[in-house]
Amino acid sequence: MIATEALKKDHRVIEKMLDVLEKISKKMEKGDNVPSELLKKASDFIRNFADNYHHMKEEDLLFKAMEQKGFPIEGGPIAIMLGEHNDGRGYARALAEGVEKYASGDSGAKKVIIDNARNYAGLLAQHIQKEDNILYMMANNILPEDFQNELLDKFDKVEKEKLSDRGRQYYVDLVDELDKAIA
Ligand SMILES: [Fe+2]
Ligand SMILES: [Fe+2]
Repeated sequence: MIATEALKKDHRVIEKMLDVLEKISKKMEKGDNVPSELLKKASDFIRNFADNYHHMKEEDLLFKAMEQKGFPIEGGPIAIMLGEHNDGRGYARALAEGVEKYASGDSGAKKVIIDNARNYAGLLAQHIQKEDNILYMMANNILPEDFQNELLDKFDKVEKEKLSDRGRQYYVDLVDELDKAIA
């Protein structure tokens, strides 16, 4: 496997969570009760798996490797990806705050949750398409095999650092658990 394939695998897991976010939003909109424990787990996934783990592998490793090979980091596709990561962080933060308020009994936080879950899902869905179909192809064109292999090794280290004892599999299973719980 090459490094960009490993990142694509993360994308498939993240996409499943984007579906879960839409299901959560629909339920809350209808006035159905969504347990705050479920919302906390979804928010934890976004902050830890999607942002802290996946986006860090891109920002600290893949994009830097591309830069080393002469790909511009300011302006162009990487700058757009970084900007979208940042926008995503804003939505994720607002969602987490909404979930905290909702969990402490503030039902007015529902709208904050719905809006930010939808904004996040919409942003990430198109972001992932751009990376899968454009940016990773560019990376594959400029990164030789030894660079890709080195990246894979570094990805393992990020998993240990960012996901600690839980590991990647915890989050892969968590998405399925949440999908079943919200159905
Ligand atoms: Fe990204
Ligand atoms: Fe990505």
